[in-house]
Amino acid sequence: MSRETTRPDRPLSATRPLSTLGPPASRPRPTPPLRFRRPTEADHAPLVRLADDWWGGRPVRRLLPRFWFRHFASTSWIAETDDPAEAATGGTGSRPGLPAGFLVGFVSPDRPDEAFIHLASTNPNLRRRGIGRALYERFCDDVRARGVVRVTTTVWPGDRVAVEFHRAIGFRAIDGPGTQPMYGVPAFPDYDAEGEDRAVFVRVLDPVREHDPTG
Ligand SMILES: CC(C)(COP(=O)(O)OP(=O)(O)OC[C@H]1O[C@@H](n2cnc3c(N)ncnc32)[C@H](O)[C@@H]1OP(=O)(O)O)[C@@H](O)C(=O)NCCC(=O)NCCS
Repeated sequence: MSRETTRPDRPLSATRPLSTLGPPASRPRPTPPLRFRRPTEADHAPLVRLADDWWGGRPVRRLLPRFWFRHFASTSWIAETDDPAEAATGGTGSRPGLPAGFLVGFVSPDRPDEAFIHLASTNPNLRRRGIGRALYERFCDDVRARGVVRVTTTVWPGDRVAVEFHRAIGFRAIDGPGTQPMYGVPAFPDYDAEGEDRAVFVRVLDPVREHDPTG
């Protein structure tokens, strides 16, 4: 029996339905002109203020303490745009530019061939414009150059947008011992704590040096 029926109270993404999280059913608009830069500690306060809103009301700000901007800046990214008509949520820090998205991640100290993406999000006014993909590609290019062969990240299995996004950009959910189908994706029950199920997504950057762990 799948988790859908055994845990009906599981946070169905603790989220709103896909239809309210996703873009309108119109043609995708082009990616706006973006600038990418490394975060600094000055970016923490303005971004953490936006975090819960960018995650559709989920309380994620506690997952984004200041140390990410102090100790993991060299593997993290901020995307900014100058298009005030679309990114209407204020600037980050004292720099010009409006926040279009950010990604915080790192190369594992214990597994130097693996990198992990902790959190990534894009401005809700600029969704489905290729910004999430661009942030992930920057991160993957970065860590590939540092010898990483696989990038991993974890996702709430009920978060259909995040699941579809990761699938679309070349990640696959690990489907092996310990996983169960949850909301249509293989996931590990209680992965992060009791009740905190996670799908573990992997993207192989170097198939020659890496056997595919999702196979
Ligand atoms: C997930 C998230 C980062 C995607 O950002 P984005 O800038 O909208 O993503 P992109 O425009 O680069 O989308 C890339 C592809 O992902 C898929 N995708 C993105 N949003 C989708 C949606 N709402 N429904 C279905 N597929 C979607 C599409 O295939 C898309 O390509 P396409 O638009 O050419 O069809 C964004 O929705 C977000 O910030 N969500 C809240 C935070 C979150 O869940 N973060 C991820 C886990 S930490």
